Amino acid sequence: MLWQKAYGFPSPLFWGTVSVLLALLVRWWHQKRKSTNSVPEKWRCVGELSELTVFPIKSCAGISLEEAECTECGIQTVSDGPLKLRDRFFIVYDEKTEEFKTARTYPKMLLINVTLDGNDAVKLSAPNMPELQIKVPQDSESNKRTHCKIWNNEKVETVDCGDTAANWLSKYVLNQDCGLRLGYYLADIMPRRVAAEKLKQCFKTFKNKDLGVYSDLTSFMLMTESSIDDLRTRLPPHVSIISRQFRPNFLVRGSLPYEEDKWKWIRIGETAVFKNVKPCTRCVLTTINPDTAIMEPKREPLRTLKGYRQLTDPAMLKVEGSSPALGIHLGLHNSGTVRVGDSIFVEDE
Ligand SMILES: *[C@@H]1O[C@H](CO)[C@@H](O)[C@H](O)[C@H]1NC(C)=O
Repeated sequence: MLWQKAYGFPSPLFWGTVSVLLALLVRWWHQKRKSTNSVPEKWRCVGELSELTVFPIKSCAGISLEEAECTECGIQTVSDGPLKLRDRFFIVYDEKTEEFKTARTYPKMLLINVTLDGNDAVKLSAPNMPELQIKVPQDSESNKRTHCKIWNNEKVETVDCGDTAANWLSKYVLNQDCGLRLGYYLADIMPRRVAAEKLKQCFKTFKNKDLGVYSDLTSFMLMTESSIDDLRTRLPPHVSIISRQFRPNFLVRGSLPYEEDKWKWIRIGETAVFKNVKPCTRCVLTTINPDTAIMEPKREPLRTLKGYRQLTDPAMLKVEGSSPALGIHLGLHNSGTVRVGDSIFVEDE
């Protein structure tokens, strides 16, 4: 045709090349999206959920559950009543400095139990203390809305649980009438936390919504029995460890040691899906026996972990320091109910 000649209309070879390039581009984009954002199409079973634990008060005893609901803020008990025990929704803080307090400073906090008590209260118990029932704050009208300081001076909002709880905690932990307070998170009115920029830059899948309420970092932590078993073989003969001193929400049975480091996606049962956000770096809390609140004198198993589980990626080392890693922090991708015995799936690549 005349106009084709006039404008030097490209040849079929040109169009062929363009189509091939476009197809390659679409494929590359699709694969990139698939690897970073979307849930795997194929799953591989790696084991089963052997323990499920909720830690209602930060740094206090965990409660072993048979089933739990997984929400963006972590796991919570499945109950008929309106009140649920939710992971790290309570926090102990210093009356004067408003700094959070943990078992790193007061190991005996690990022996404080909390259970649901009716529709609107929980019961606290600890060795040689009378049990105490406290009403869980429903709003910030009858209780003082305040904030406390956690890691790196990050301020988090909390509502104070009142003088009776404060007095009971101070008596047990400090042997004094006052000094410590108990705070509670009101999910309906309090903001979620914002993650430090350096963390988000270093760990690409890490989003603000992955942060837990008062947990050290994300809403979920997973560990495997095989990694703990392998660590056990490396410890000096007199040191014994149990999984509970590492405080995982999910304990997995059946996978290979340290295999969890590489998992990108984890599905527990049929619907609950999580993404691996970062390795869990370990502190001195792992050296305290959760049944006796006694710290291992040689700081085991932390010392042994340091010998072979230090992070190696330079960018991660810069952000995380020299703490060794064991277990992984997860963020929620799809909510759901999980039960002990559920199969654990990971991406099948
Ligand atoms: C706390 O709970 C654990 C496990 O259920 C139990 O063995 C312990 O005796 C409880 N402690 C107190 C002080 O009630």
